[in-house]
Amino acid sequence: MEFFDTHTHYNDEKFKQEAEKMLNELKQNGIGGIVIPGFNIESSERAIELANKNASVYCSVGIHPSDIENSTEKIDEQICKIRDLIKNEKVVAIGEIGLDYHWTQDNKELQKYAFKKQIELANEQKLPIIIHTRDCVQDMIDILSKEISPMEPSILHCCPFNRELVKEGLKLNFYISFAGPVTYKNAKNAEEIVKMVPEEKILIETDSPYLPPEPFRGQRNDSTKVKYIAQKVAEIKNIPLEEFAKLTFENAKKVFKI
Ligand code: NI
Repeated sequence: MEFFDTHTHYNDEKFKQEAEKMLNELKQNGIGGIVIPGFNIESSERAIELANKNASVYCSVGIHPSDIENSTEKIDEQICKIRDLIKNEKVVAIGEIGLDYHWTQDNKELQKYAFKKQIELANEQKLPIIIHTRDCVQDMIDILSKEISPMEPSILHCCPFNRELVKEGLKLNFYISFAGPVTYKNAKNAEEIVKMVPEEKILIETDSPYLPPEPFRGQRNDSTKVKYIAQKVAEIKNIPLEEFAKLTFENAKKVFKI
């Protein structure tokens, strides 16, 4: 049985030089494919570097809302560099991009600007986007439904347990990617949200090194723990684990066109 971890940050400094070794051991640990998303220029470059060393490793490039510069001119420069990085053939998406009002609210307009510009870039390049969304439900829905929607089926990463957002995502033909929080005992309405998502739209991810699933909370997360997330979602959907692994693997291949 092999799993596909659609979102894992081996480009994060918490992995440092261990990343190469861990990626080489993925296959023997039951992980048949992963995507390493960038969150700024440097981490996007590192994601490409790691992907180029390993056949089953793919990557995405983009500027996370917490990593955007403080003027539209400088954001344009960041995006210009991202545009250059797309040329690498292991790049399968633009991300992670989006809005995050949890850490800062004083640059909302710049966050929206960077998000929309990167959706534009993805549409022009015919790539899916990987969306990060936190504490910004209405603005996120407004942008995606009224201003600019991704043209390729895209991904709502680390699925927020928000009914409206997931409903909107499904309307836009998105894939919904479940991460560690789906295993947490205090995850309100996680079960209801999982049930809303049709089989052919489910993805799984670790978002490592963050958000370890139960029973690893407090430890550094990595892709091998994606099976605990798979187990939980498969159980809610009432699908045998082996079948669920295959299903989510195929979904990942479809959305990333690999
Ligand atoms: Ni992430």
